[in-house]
Amino acid sequence: MILKGYGFMKLLARTTVIITTISPRGIPNAAPFSFNMPASFEPPIFVFACDPEHDTWRNIRENGEFVVNIIDESLGDKLHILEKDFPYEVNEIKEAGLTEEPSKKVKPPRIKEAFAWLECKTVATYPIGDHMLIAGEVLLAEVRDEYFDKELKLDKVKPLIHISGTQFAIPLERRFKRAR
Ligand SMILES: Cc1cc2nc3c(=O)[nH]c(=O)nc-3n(C[C@H](O)[C@H](O)[C@H](O)COP(=O)(O)O)c2cc1C
Repeated sequence: MILKGYGFMKLLARTTVIITTISPRGIPNAAPFSFNMPASFEPPIFVFACDPEHDTWRNIRENGEFVVNIIDESLGDKLHILEKDFPYEVNEIKEAGLTEEPSKKVKPPRIKEAFAWLECKTVATYPIGDHMLIAGEVLLAEVRDEYFDKELKLDKVKPLIHISGTQFAIPLERRFKRAR
């Protein structure tokens, strides 16, 4: 089967995250993203692609800081609220009934209900097609102790995978090792 245009995305299952930023007046913003991945070990760098119309990009352009809130399926029913196009400086964390928590290295707050957080400072941006590619150095990565023991504990946490549009998946298979 040939997939036209951006149909190729449907072949790539991606982790869903919520990215928090802050306006120059200190009002937090939150939005779901699935075009995201690690891009460098040293320094540790995370990249994601953002529509340049989004408030997330507006805030990052202003101050460069963002937090990647890594969520599991328990927050899945919040995504349809967070993805609404609220006016600039409406605090979507509150609108979604989620809890703000201060970050340790950057000004944008974390979302308390996430299971892990990457506090990032933008080191590069690049227009790519109809999106902006944003690369952030991970200044601090923290995960809840109960979800991690050398590796992510998949019996405790169910990462929410975005396939495309309204299609999501929760990987329920147990971890296994492959030679590499
Ligand atoms: C599961 C999911 C994944 C999304 N992934 C992206 C993405 O990777 N890039 C993007 O620009 N928008 C993405 N969106 C859309 C934005 O989250 C949405 O347009 C949001 O309102 C932008 O908010 P903002 O204007 O506050 O930044 C996604 C939405 C959902 C529900």
